[in-house]
Amino acid sequence: MKLKILVTAGDGIGPEVTNEAVAVLREVAALGGHSFEIEEKRIGGVAIVKDGTPLPDETLAAALASDAVLLGAVGGNEFEALPADKRPEAGLLKIRAELGGFANLRPAFAFKELTVNSPLRPEIVDGADILFVRELLGGLYFGKPRGWNHETGEAQNTMRYTKDEVARVARVAFGLARKRRKKLTSVDKANVLEVSQMWRATVNEVAAEFPDVALEHQYVDAMAMHLMNQPLKYDVVVAENLFGDILTDEAAVITGSLGMLPSATIGGKVNFYEPVHGSAPDIAGKGLANPLGSILTSALVLRYSGGLETEAAAVESAVRTVLEQGFRTPDLARSNPQGFKVLSTTEMGAKVRETVKKQLLAVSS
Ligand code: NAD
Ligand code: IPM
Ligand code: MN
Repeated sequence: MKLKILVTAGDGIGPEVTNEAVAVLREVAALGGHSFEIEEKRIGGVAIVKDGTPLPDETLAAALASDAVLLGAVGGNEFEALPADKRPEAGLLKIRAELGGFANLRPAFAFKELTVNSPLRPEIVDGADILFVRELLGGLYFGKPRGWNHETGEAQNTMRYTKDEVARVARVAFGLARKRRKKLTSVDKANVLEVSQMWRATVNEVAAEFPDVALEHQYVDAMAMHLMNQPLKYDVVVAENLFGDILTDEAAVITGSLGMLPSATIGGKVNFYEPVHGSAPDIAGKGLANPLGSILTSALVLRYSGGLETEAAAVESAVRTVLEQGFRTPDLARSNPQGFKVLSTTEMGAKVRETVKKQLLAVSS
């Protein structure tokens, strides 16, 4: 299998975690005789500093010419004073828009070994397996008018969707639910917002195409609570861009750390892969970052762009195995209650690679 992958590691812990994900991809390629052509380009704060823009043309062109793009993270404290359209994050939003993927799949899976790391009781989170489908190209992030008039002191953003934009993401979510536990929860704020009323009506219409999937609607505020009280109740959850952004960071409480969450964005010209977490300036450059979210993201590259299900499953199972063996990055061992073996970012990456290798060799022998 041939795969052209563009890596945009970005800022803060982005390069640290992405190095480990790329090393896993190289290992999988070497073991299976696959040819992964991996190229790197700048995005975010590093690109602002070197190229004067958060998304250089060269990066975008390389992204559009790839089979898959793997991002680390963007953003940093030094860019906080910049206007929204000049910040590192603007580069990320632009590349998402240009690649065109509208369905951001964010699986939140509670590894049994990490339930003790959740502030929720283990019996609440054990077995949680939720697939969030976050609409990624519309809503408050992209709606117009937007802006900040410094003279009048007025600022505005617009939550806007077309019916087609809602229907296409709803179809993806229903389709995924059909292959899982056949339950879809659609999140909105239809008790207040017209956009949400249209969202709900459209999801109801699309539901007719999927009579085998049970659909429920939740208001986003209640959903934030239900997720913490009864995460086991949920299978696939579909939400507007900002609601999905917020709920998926909340899901990190279920999985034990934000550093565990991967994502894949599908439906556009080129699939886009990124862990859910950001550049974590508070721990950057110290070898403290958890690379597992990025490594699990590389598994999604293998699955959705490579069609390499065995290899994707081997990476996921290697992550489980290293956790079973008691290896942890610091975020997964806050109080070190059971004498975990605490590893640095690169050590954790190496452990996963070693385990992936053993598992893939076992499969092929
Ligand atoms: P963050 O996700 O970077 O960090 C939140 C908290 O989680 C921090 O305490 C951090 O140390 C911890 N954390 C995150 N990832 C971790 C990992 N892999 N291992 C261990 N701990 C981890 O969010 P923030 O602090 O709100 O934002 C920091 C910057 O990142 C901002 O500029 C923000 O815009 C940007 N950001 C970028 C992305 C992205 O590029 N996809 C996503 C979210 C935030
Ligand atoms: C995420 C991030 C981004 C978002 C930011 C950095 C633009 O929070 O991927 O969850 O809000 O989409
Ligand atoms: Mn976010």
